Amino acid sequence: MELKNNTVLITGGGSGIGFALAKRFTKAGNQVIICGRRKEQLEIAKIKLPNLICYQVDVSQEKERLDFVARVTLEHPALNVLINNAGVQNRPAPLVEPQDWSKHRLEISTNLEAPIHLSLLFIPHLQKQTHPVIINVSSGLAFTPLSFMSTYCLTKAALHSFTMSLRHQLKATPIQVVELIPPAVNTDLGGTGLHTAGVNLDEFADHCMSKLEQGDLEFGFGTSEERRHFSREQLDQYFLTMNK
Ligand SMILES: NC(=O)c1ccc[n+]([C@@H]2O[C@H](COP(=O)([O-])OP(=O)(O)OC[C@H]3O[C@@H](n4cnc5c(N)ncnc54)[C@H](OP(=O)(O)O)[C@@H]3O)[C@@H](O)[C@H]2O)c1
Repeated sequence: MELKNNTVLITGGGSGIGFALAKRFTKAGNQVIICGRRKEQLEIAKIKLPNLICYQVDVSQEKERLDFVARVTLEHPALNVLINNAGVQNRPAPLVEPQDWSKHRLEISTNLEAPIHLSLLFIPHLQKQTHPVIINVSSGLAFTPLSFMSTYCLTKAALHSFTMSLRHQLKATPIQVVELIPPAVNTDLGGTGLHTAGVNLDEFADHCMSKLEQGDLEFGFGTSEERRHFSREQLDQYFLTMNK
């Protein structure tokens, strides 16, 4: 994709991978819009990147998605890149034990319903733009789940599937559909300190920008790049090792 002169919306752009991409897109000469639930996190992002445009939105809520898409396309008619990045990760009790369903539901509504619905809502607008792109942020866990976070992993597997269908269906339109597949990255996903073993955030974000510039439509980094190419036997073996 063209890496400058875009108007880029990054959901969940106030922290982690979203903010690292926001910094790079801003530096490359793009107008960047971010959204998130926490006002204070958006304010911190805005202090670090004064040109950011911030919206406080909860993308897990259907009504908020509808209102947000109407508002942001009216206020920023040049918006041509949607990055579905917002996500949450829960570590539920073992599945044989009683569950707090609201936590599973939140993962499904944030990580899966939101990117599907936002993609569908933005398609009519994006079709009229130059160089329109939808980028969905899935996960290496889409290919080999960690069974103790089964719902998180299924949302990412389903998002991978949806992204393939979307890309195929939009082939005849100008909209490019990209899947960005992070491995474990050192962010605060799921809570502070849970991803310190992950790869360096800046290294990962730099890699993403260079893959986007090269025009790759699906890419991972390190182990997620390996996993997206694995045979069924390799996936089974990796699954067993991960879930020991
Ligand atoms: N870090 C990893 O190891 C890893 C690996 C694979 C995939 N990923 C994916 O990468 C994406 C970014 O995660 P991250 O690692 O950068 O973690 P992060 O720093 O926790 O970022 C997630 C962002 O999403 C926002 N968000 C969550 N729920 C939202 C909602 N309902 N509405 C709007 N915004 C919402 C959060 O802001 P608020 O809380 O303020 O809403 C936060 O800014 C996620 O989709 C995640 O699943 C991460």
